[in-house]
Amino acid sequence: NWTPESFITTTINELKAKLGNDKVVLGLSGGVDSTVAGVLMHHAIGSNLTCIFVNNGLLRKNEFENVLEQYKHMQLNVIGVDASDRFLNDLKGISDPEKKRKIIGRDFIEVFNAEAKKLTDVQWLGQGTIYPDVIESVSVNGPSATIKSHHNVGGLPKEMHLKVVEPLRLLFKDEVRRVGSALGISQKLLGRHPFPGPGLGVRILGEVTSERVRILQDADAIFIDSLIESGLYDSIWQAGTILLPVKSVGVMGDERTYENTVALRAVHSTDGMTADWVHLPYDFLAKVSNDIINKVRGVNRVVYDISSKPPATIEWE
Ligand code: XMP
Repeated sequence: NWTPESFITTTINELKAKLGNDKVVLGLSGGVDSTVAGVLMHHAIGSNLTCIFVNNGLLRKNEFENVLEQYKHMQLNVIGVDASDRFLNDLKGISDPEKKRKIIGRDFIEVFNAEAKKLTDVQWLGQGTIYPDVIESVSVNGPSATIKSHHNVGGLPKEMHLKVVEPLRLLFKDEVRRVGSALGISQKLLGRHPFPGPGLGVRILGEVTSERVRILQDADAIFIDSLIESGLYDSIWQAGTILLPVKSVGVMGDERTYENTVALRAVHSTDGMTADWVHLPYDFLAKVSNDIINKVRGVNRVVYDISSKPPATIEWE
Protein backbone atom coordinates (compact mmCIF):
# COMPACT_ATOMS: atom_id res chain seq x y z
CA ASN A 1 0.00 0.00 0.00
CA TRP A 2 1.90 3.02 -1.35
CA THR A 3 1.73 6.27 0.55
CA PRO A 4 4.01 9.30 0.21
CA GLU A 5 4.95 8.93 3.88
CA SER A 6 5.98 5.29 3.58
CA PHE A 7 7.89 6.07 0.39
CA ILE A 8 9.77 8.87 2.13
CA THR A 9 10.69 6.74 5.17
CA THR A 10 11.83 3.79 3.07
CA THR A 11 13.75 5.93 0.59
CA ILE A 12 15.55 7.93 3.25
CA ASN A 13 16.66 4.69 4.92
CA GLU A 14 17.80 3.26 1.60
CA LEU A 15 19.70 6.43 0.73
CA LYS A 16 21.41 6.46 4.11
CA ALA A 17 22.46 2.83 3.69
CA LYS A 18 23.61 3.31 0.11
CA LEU A 19 25.43 6.62 0.51
CA GLY A 20 26.81 6.38 4.04
CA ASN A 21 29.02 9.42 4.43
CA ASP A 22 29.54 9.88 0.67
CA LYS A 23 29.07 13.22 -1.05
CA VAL A 24 26.50 13.87 -3.77
CA VAL A 25 26.12 16.63 -6.37
CA LEU A 26 22.70 17.27 -7.90
CA GLY A 27 21.49 19.67 -10.59
CA LEU A 28 18.38 21.69 -9.75
CA SER A 29 16.28 23.12 -12.56
CA GLY A 30 13.52 24.91 -10.72
CA GLY A 31 11.14 22.14 -11.74
CA VAL A 32 9.17 19.73 -9.59
CA ASP A 33 11.28 16.56 -10.08
CA SER A 34 14.73 17.91 -9.29
CA THR A 35 13.39 19.91 -6.36
CA VAL A 36 11.67 16.90 -4.77
CA ALA A 37 14.78 14.77 -5.38
CA GLY A 38 16.95 17.47 -3.79
CA VAL A 39 14.79 17.88 -0.69
CA LEU A 40 14.47 14.12 -0.22
CA MET A 41 18.22 13.61 -0.47
CA HIS A 42 18.81 16.54 1.82
CA HIS A 43 16.66 14.77 4.44
CA ALA A 44 18.76 11.65 4.03
CA ILE A 45 22.32 13.02 3.92
CA GLY A 46 22.11 16.69 4.93
CA SER A 47 25.18 18.73 4.14
CA ASN A 48 26.76 15.91 2.13
CA LEU A 49 24.44 17.03 -0.67
CA THR A 50 25.49 19.98 -2.83
CA CYS A 51 23.06 21.29 -5.45
CA ILE A 52 23.91 23.30 -8.55
CA PHE A 53 21.37 25.56 -10.26
CA VAL A 54 22.49 26.98 -13.61
CA ASN A 55 21.01 30.12 -15.13
CA ASN A 56 21.20 29.58 -18.89
CA GLY A 57 19.69 33.01 -19.55
CA LEU A 58 16.65 31.29 -21.07
CA LEU A 59 14.56 30.96 -17.93
CA ARG A 60 11.33 32.83 -17.28
CA LYS A 61 11.46 36.43 -16.09
CA ASN A 62 13.18 36.70 -12.65
CA GLU A 63 13.03 32.92 -12.37
CA PHE A 64 16.67 32.38 -11.44
CA GLU A 65 16.60 34.83 -8.52
CA ASN A 66 13.17 33.73 -7.27
CA VAL A 67 13.83 30.01 -7.39
CA LEU A 68 17.31 30.34 -5.89
CA GLU A 69 15.74 32.22 -3.01
CA GLN A 70 13.16 29.45 -2.50
CA TYR A 71 15.88 26.79 -2.53
CA LYS A 72 17.82 28.62 0.15
CA HIS A 73 14.62 28.97 2.14
CA MET A 74 14.26 25.18 1.98
CA GLN A 75 17.72 24.95 3.58
CA LEU A 76 19.19 23.33 0.47
CA ASN A 77 22.90 23.72 0.06
CA VAL A 78 22.75 25.28 -3.41
CA ILE A 79 25.27 27.00 -5.67
CA GLY A 80 23.67 29.33 -8.23
CA VAL A 81 25.72 29.78 -11.39
CA ASP A 82 24.75 32.59 -13.72
CA ALA A 83 26.06 31.52 -17.12
CA SER A 84 23.59 33.56 -19.22
CA ASP A 85 26.26 35.38 -21.19
CA ARG A 86 27.99 32.20 -22.23
CA PHE A 87 24.78 30.59 -23.52
CA LEU A 88 23.68 33.71 -25.37
CA ASN A 89 27.11 34.11 -26.88
CA ASP A 90 27.21 30.52 -28.12
CA LEU A 91 23.70 30.86 -29.59
CA LYS A 92 24.66 33.88 -31.72
CA GLY A 93 23.58 33.45 -35.34
CA ILE A 94 21.96 30.04 -34.76
CA SER A 95 18.36 29.53 -35.91
CA ASP A 96 18.08 25.78 -36.40
CA PRO A 97 16.06 24.27 -33.50
CA GLU A 98 18.13 21.12 -33.08
CA LYS A 99 21.40 23.08 -33.24
CA LYS A 100 20.09 25.39 -30.54
CA ARG A 101 19.16 22.38 -28.37
CA LYS A 102 22.62 20.87 -28.85
CA ILE A 103 24.42 24.07 -27.92
CA ILE A 104 22.24 24.63 -24.85
CA GLY A 105 22.70 20.99 -23.79
CA ARG A 106 26.46 21.06 -24.29
CA ASP A 107 26.89 24.36 -22.46
CA PHE A 108 24.77 23.08 -19.59
CA ILE A 109 26.94 20.01 -19.15
CA GLU A 110 30.15 22.05 -19.36
CA VAL A 111 28.99 24.66 -16.87
CA PHE A 112 27.67 21.99 -14.50
CA ASN A 113 30.87 19.96 -14.73
CA ALA A 114 33.12 22.95 -14.16
CA GLU A 115 31.20 23.69 -10.99
CA ALA A 116 31.00 20.06 -9.84
CA LYS A 117 34.76 19.66 -10.29
CA LYS A 118 35.37 22.40 -7.74
CA LEU A 119 33.74 20.20 -5.10
CA THR A 120 36.12 17.76 -3.50
CA ASP A 121 35.44 14.10 -2.80
CA VAL A 122 32.14 13.83 -4.64
CA GLN A 123 31.26 10.22 -5.44
CA TRP A 124 27.66 10.50 -6.64
CA LEU A 125 25.55 12.39 -9.12
CA GLY A 126 21.97 12.77 -7.91
CA GLN A 127 19.21 13.07 -10.49
CA GLY A 128 15.48 13.78 -10.43
CA THR A 129 14.76 11.12 -13.07
CA ILE A 130 11.17 9.84 -12.82
CA TYR A 131 9.59 6.72 -14.28
CA PRO A 132 8.35 8.26 -17.56
CA ASP A 133 11.94 9.48 -18.22
CA VAL A 134 13.19 5.92 -17.72
CA ILE A 135 10.66 4.60 -20.23
CA GLU A 136 11.37 7.41 -22.69
CA SER A 137 15.08 6.77 -22.69
CA VAL A 138 14.60 3.13 -23.73
CA SER A 139 12.37 3.99 -26.70
CA VAL A 140 15.39 4.85 -28.80
CA ASN A 141 13.46 5.76 -31.92
CA GLY A 142 10.82 7.93 -30.34
CA PRO A 143 11.09 11.70 -30.61
CA SER A 144 11.41 11.78 -26.84
CA ALA A 145 14.73 9.96 -26.97
CA THR A 146 16.39 13.29 -27.70
CA ILE A 147 14.08 15.41 -25.56
CA LYS A 148 15.98 15.19 -22.36
CA SER A 149 19.37 14.49 -23.87
CA HIS A 150 20.94 17.44 -22.11
CA HIS A 151 20.15 15.89 -18.74
CA ASN A 152 22.22 12.86 -19.63
CA VAL A 153 25.31 12.10 -17.66
CA GLY A 154 27.19 11.05 -20.77
CA GLY A 155 29.08 14.32 -20.81
CA LEU A 156 30.47 14.03 -17.33
CA PRO A 157 34.23 13.77 -17.26
CA LYS A 158 35.29 10.16 -16.82
CA GLU A 159 37.88 11.07 -14.22
CA MET A 160 35.11 12.09 -11.84
CA HIS A 161 33.86 8.48 -11.74
CA LEU A 162 30.45 9.50 -10.49
CA LYS A 163 27.90 6.88 -9.65
CA VAL A 164 24.28 7.84 -10.27
CA VAL A 165 21.57 7.95 -7.61
CA GLU A 166 17.95 8.51 -8.68
CA PRO A 167 15.53 8.27 -5.74
CA LEU A 168 12.39 9.06 -7.81
CA ARG A 169 13.11 6.54 -10.55
CA LEU A 170 9.99 4.48 -9.95
CA LEU A 171 7.51 7.32 -9.47
CA PHE A 172 4.97 8.93 -11.74
CA LYS A 173 4.53 12.69 -11.75
CA ASP A 174 1.48 12.73 -9.50
CA GLU A 175 3.32 10.58 -6.96
CA VAL A 176 6.30 12.94 -7.09
CA ARG A 177 3.94 15.84 -6.33
CA ARG A 178 2.43 13.93 -3.39
CA VAL A 179 5.89 13.12 -2.03
CA GLY A 180 6.86 16.78 -2.42
CA SER A 181 3.75 17.83 -0.57
CA ALA A 182 4.46 15.40 2.29
CA LEU A 183 7.99 16.85 2.44
CA GLY A 184 6.48 20.29 2.99
CA ILE A 185 7.41 21.79 -0.40
CA SER A 186 5.04 24.64 -1.28
CA GLN A 187 2.01 23.90 -3.46
CA LYS A 188 3.02 26.84 -5.60
CA LEU A 189 6.27 25.15 -6.55
CA LEU A 190 4.73 21.67 -6.87
CA GLY A 191 1.95 22.93 -9.12
CA ARG A 192 4.27 24.56 -11.64
CA HIS A 193 3.78 23.79 -15.30
CA PRO A 194 6.45 21.73 -17.06
CA PHE A 195 9.12 23.84 -18.73
CA PRO A 196 11.51 22.53 -21.39
CA GLY A 197 15.19 22.17 -20.50
CA PRO A 198 16.30 24.48 -23.37
CA GLY A 199 13.79 26.99 -21.99
CA LEU A 200 12.95 30.08 -24.00
CA GLY A 201 15.66 29.02 -26.44
CA VAL A 202 13.09 26.85 -28.22
CA ARG A 203 10.29 29.40 -27.78
CA ILE A 204 12.20 32.12 -29.58
CA LEU A 205 11.83 31.02 -33.18
CA GLY A 206 14.86 32.05 -35.18
CA GLU A 207 17.90 33.63 -33.59
CA VAL A 208 18.10 34.03 -29.82
CA THR A 209 19.35 37.47 -28.78
CA SER A 210 19.24 39.21 -25.42
CA GLU A 211 16.67 41.67 -26.78
CA ARG A 212 14.42 38.85 -28.00
CA VAL A 213 14.79 37.08 -24.64
CA ARG A 214 13.71 40.30 -22.94
CA ILE A 215 10.63 40.62 -25.18
CA LEU A 216 9.56 37.03 -24.62
CA GLN A 217 10.20 37.09 -20.86
CA ASP A 218 8.04 40.21 -20.51
CA ALA A 219 5.20 38.83 -22.64
CA ASP A 220 5.35 35.44 -20.93
CA ALA A 221 5.23 36.98 -17.45
CA ILE A 222 2.06 38.87 -18.37
CA PHE A 223 0.39 35.70 -19.74
CA ILE A 224 1.36 33.44 -16.83
CA ASP A 225 0.56 36.02 -14.14
CA SER A 226 -2.84 36.61 -15.74
CA LEU A 227 -3.55 32.86 -15.73
CA ILE A 228 -2.69 32.72 -12.04
CA GLU A 229 -4.72 35.82 -11.15
CA SER A 230 -7.79 34.59 -12.99
CA GLY A 231 -7.63 31.16 -11.35
CA LEU A 232 -7.02 29.35 -14.65
CA TYR A 233 -3.41 28.30 -14.09
CA ASP A 234 -4.00 25.17 -12.01
CA SER A 235 -6.47 23.64 -14.46
CA ILE A 236 -3.96 23.90 -17.33
CA TRP A 237 -1.17 21.39 -17.92
CA GLN A 238 1.23 23.73 -19.63
CA ALA A 239 1.19 27.30 -20.90
CA GLY A 240 3.75 29.56 -22.46
CA THR A 241 4.48 32.23 -24.98
CA ILE A 242 6.30 31.94 -28.29
CA LEU A 243 8.13 34.72 -30.10
CA LEU A 244 7.57 34.32 -33.82
CA PRO A 245 10.15 35.18 -36.47
CA VAL A 246 7.49 37.30 -38.16
CA LYS A 247 7.10 41.05 -38.05
CA SER A 248 3.89 42.68 -39.06
CA VAL A 249 2.54 46.13 -39.64
CA GLY A 250 0.58 47.89 -36.94
CA VAL A 251 -0.41 51.39 -35.97
CA MET A 252 0.26 53.27 -32.76
CA GLY A 253 -1.11 56.82 -32.54
CA ASP A 254 -0.40 58.27 -35.99
CA GLU A 255 2.62 56.09 -36.50
CA ARG A 256 2.95 52.98 -38.55
CA THR A 257 4.76 50.25 -36.60
CA TYR A 258 6.55 47.16 -37.85
CA GLU A 259 7.04 44.89 -34.86
CA ASN A 260 7.09 41.35 -33.46
CA THR A 261 4.30 38.83 -33.12
CA VAL A 262 3.79 36.74 -30.00
CA ALA A 263 1.79 33.49 -29.88
CA LEU A 264 0.10 32.27 -26.70
CA ARG A 265 -0.06 28.52 -26.08
CA ALA A 266 -2.05 26.70 -23.39
CA VAL A 267 -2.81 22.98 -23.39
CA HIS A 268 -4.60 20.31 -21.41
CA SER A 269 -2.65 17.05 -21.19
CA THR A 270 -1.79 14.26 -18.80
CA ASP A 271 1.68 13.33 -19.99
CA GLY A 272 2.61 15.67 -22.83
CA MET A 273 2.31 12.90 -25.39
CA THR A 274 -1.06 14.19 -26.57
CA ALA A 275 -2.55 17.57 -25.83
CA ASP A 276 -5.65 19.68 -26.48
CA TRP A 277 -5.61 23.43 -26.76
CA VAL A 278 -7.41 25.14 -23.92
CA HIS A 279 -10.60 27.05 -24.73
CA LEU A 280 -9.53 30.16 -22.85
CA PRO A 281 -12.33 32.71 -22.39
CA TYR A 282 -12.37 35.45 -25.06
CA ASP A 283 -12.37 38.25 -22.52
CA PHE A 284 -9.32 36.73 -20.85
CA LEU A 285 -7.52 36.54 -24.20
CA ALA A 286 -8.57 40.10 -25.01
CA LYS A 287 -7.10 41.41 -21.77
CA VAL A 288 -3.81 39.52 -22.12
CA SER A 289 -3.46 40.68 -25.72
CA ASN A 290 -4.04 44.29 -24.73
CA ASP A 291 -1.64 44.10 -21.82
CA ILE A 292 1.14 42.55 -23.87
CA ILE A 293 0.80 45.00 -26.76
CA ASN A 294 0.57 48.00 -24.44
CA LYS A 295 3.31 47.02 -22.03
CA VAL A 296 5.89 45.04 -23.98
CA ARG A 297 8.02 47.22 -26.20
CA GLY A 298 8.57 45.53 -29.56
CA VAL A 299 5.28 43.61 -29.82
CA ASN A 300 2.31 44.84 -31.85
CA ARG A 301 0.36 41.61 -32.44
CA VAL A 302 -0.74 38.64 -30.31
CA VAL A 303 -2.22 35.40 -31.67
CA TYR A 304 -3.61 32.32 -29.92
CA ASP A 305 -2.52 28.81 -30.96
CA ILE A 306 -5.58 26.58 -31.46
CA SER A 307 -3.72 23.42 -32.53
CA SER A 308 -3.84 20.13 -30.69
CA LYS A 309 -1.18 17.41 -30.46
CA PRO A 310 -1.02 15.45 -32.66
CA PRO A 311 -0.50 16.64 -35.30
CA ALA A 312 0.97 19.83 -33.81
CA THR A 313 3.44 19.57 -30.92
CA ILE A 314 3.22 21.55 -27.70
CA GLU A 315 6.38 23.53 -28.40
CA TRP A 316 6.85 25.21 -31.77
CA GLU A 317 10.42 23.95 -32.12
P1 XMP B 1 6.39 18.60 -27.64
O1 XMP B 1 6.75 19.95 -28.18
O2 XMP B 1 7.28 17.51 -28.13
O3 XMP B 1 6.62 18.69 -26.06
O4 XMP B 1 4.92 18.28 -27.82
C1 XMP B 1 6.21 17.69 -25.15
C2 XMP B 1 6.70 18.10 -23.77
O5 XMP B 1 8.13 18.04 -23.72
C3 XMP B 1 8.66 19.31 -23.44
N1 XMP B 1 9.86 19.49 -24.26
C4 XMP B 1 11.12 19.42 -23.80
N2 XMP B 1 11.59 19.20 -22.57
N3 XMP B 1 13.80 19.39 -23.39
C5 XMP B 1 12.94 19.18 -22.36
O6 XMP B 1 13.39 19.00 -21.23
C6 XMP B 1 13.40 19.61 -24.67
O7 XMP B 1 14.20 19.80 -25.58
C7 XMP B 1 11.97 19.64 -24.87
N4 XMP B 1 11.20 19.80 -25.99
C8 XMP B 1 9.91 19.72 -25.58
C9 XMP B 1 7.57 20.31 -23.76
O8 XMP B 1 7.71 21.52 -23.02
C10 XMP B 1 6.34 19.53 -23.40
O9 XMP B 1 6.09 19.58 -21.99
